[in-house]
Amino acid sequence: MNLLIMGGPGAGKGTMSEKILDKFNILHISTGDIFRAEIAQQTKLGLLAKSYIDKGLLVPDDVTNSMVKSFLEKSDHSKGYLLDGYPRTIDQARAFNELVAGSDLEIDKVLFMDIPFDVLAQRITGRRICKKCGAIYHITNKPSQKEGVCDVCGGDLYQRKDDTLESLRVRVDEYSKLTQPVLDYYADKGLVTTINANQSIEDVWSDVQKALED
Ligand code: AP5
Ligand code: MG
Repeated sequence: MNLLIMGGPGAGKGTMSEKILDKFNILHISTGDIFRAEIAQQTKLGLLAKSYIDKGLLVPDDVTNSMVKSFLEKSDHSKGYLLDGYPRTIDQARAFNELVAGSDLEIDKVLFMDIPFDVLAQRITGRRICKKCGAIYHITNKPSQKEGVCDVCGGDLYQRKDDTLESLRVRVDEYSKLTQPVLDYYADKGLVTTINANQSIEDVWSDVQKALED
């Protein structure tokens, strides 16, 4: 099963990805997570990506496309994959299509996490992430049992540098301009299922599972 999860910043892509991966054990390809790992290791790619990510801007297509290509080449995708945050421009969608066309890596289904932009600020500013395992929390919507400590692995929780209102405005703008057309690209191929992402995490998950059973 090859999946793509799409949606604006804070729509809940990462939160649903955790659950999908738990259930189906497929390869997670989150370009945001890969960039953040590169930044933490202070690689050349990380330093370049950071100059865009901290401002809320998209990293250039050629950099992102070749990163995904090499990630796919070195990872086990025999059970399928879940793309999270890629492709998010038409150029990326075309490049990925070229990469997988005619192979068993073509996308089977696109889950579109539909949410009004006005609820995103609360989600983004309250998000906390585990430094060690990447588990996603929210100070009120999904708090950890002990403040600042991950329930799963005991790691420290941190706030993403781009989770500010200022950067969110840019991210929403980038999404509207560059990523929304990608949704139409996959809708034309008949691949998109829309999920109401403006519900509790449990209700969103229940809808995602229904969509994946079809
Ligand atoms: P990326 O990491 O992909 O960030 P994003 O798209 O902005 O999305 P987020 O990760 O912020 O949100 P999410 O939808 O995963 O929400 P989450 O589940 O965490 O990209 C970051 C940056 O990297 C980009 O801006 C760009 O610079 C660069 N980049 C990445 N990919 C790129 C690409 N392909 N091309 C170029 N550049 C790229 O949830 C958010 C919060 O809400 C959490 O606290 C969560 O607990 C809470 N929450 C989740 N669901 C619910 C719910 N149903 N109810 C209540 N609270 C909820
Ligand atoms: Mg995410």
